[in-house]
Amino acid sequence: MADSRAIGVFDSGLGGLTVVRELIRRNPCEDIVYFGDTGRVPYGTRSRETIKKYAAEDERFLLRHNVKLIIAACGTVSSVAADTAVSLPVPFFEMVTHAARAAVNATRNRKIGVIGTAATVLSGSHKKEILKLLPEAEVTAASCPLFVPLVESGWYGEEDIVVLETVRRYLSPIISAGCDTLILGCTHYPVLEGAIRRITEGKITLINPGVAVSEAVSVFIKSNALENINNGMGIHNFYVSDKPDSFKAQASVLLGEELDDSRVEQVDLSTL
Ligand code: DGL
Repeated sequence: MADSRAIGVFDSGLGGLTVVRELIRRNPCEDIVYFGDTGRVPYGTRSRETIKKYAAEDERFLLRHNVKLIIAACGTVSSVAADTAVSLPVPFFEMVTHAARAAVNATRNRKIGVIGTAATVLSGSHKKEILKLLPEAEVTAASCPLFVPLVESGWYGEEDIVVLETVRRYLSPIISAGCDTLILGCTHYPVLEGAIRRITEGKITLINPGVAVSEAVSVFIKSNALENINNGMGIHNFYVSDKPDSFKAQASVLLGEELDDSRVEQVDLSTL
């Protein structure tokens, strides 16, 4: 048994590529269809209703590509709009539960930090999941609203003074609370991992939700006979809702593979 349909992945923009990168590493033969809603990024400052509406539209777009499962590679959607997936005809993966489990397994002092968008932090989603697994955990959460625009603008160099200072300010409550583990609760944030490591002097274990989720997806497709066993290397196609140029340039860097024009297409969700 095999399933040659692609895996569908979506995010508000570039962030979901940190999940795609991990997915490709573990499942090189799988085809991937990615949708980045670059025309409407950021999601994290918007209302719950708007985020749900966008998530439902993104999922509908991926279903039109006949995907075999959908990954909401967005901490914000996973935190406030995961219920849009209840009626999906394919399996759905979100970012919060797997990241919470990885953090609980990693912490030694039970002090866990969470950083994410304003909507994610306000939802308390990670804290709820962590406390289910480890009721005595102390969770310190901080929103980092400037991280997404920094990453979308290509500002993530670990030597960049603006990046380092921004990271320092946002992480100060996490460091002061003595957290030994930190969930990067927005999929854009692993792009800033180098800068975050410098500011935390390598003393805090960073949890990249893309790693946790791509491991869960790998196990799931293997145990449910959904692997694409007929393929050579998987084909990865990308769709965006704004002009593709800057996405293409940043995505090539983040994925370490050159994306030519034929692989990144602009789509208008309202006409579908
Ligand atoms: N990558 C999204 C997340 O994980 C992006 C945030 C945004 O669009 O504000 O939350």
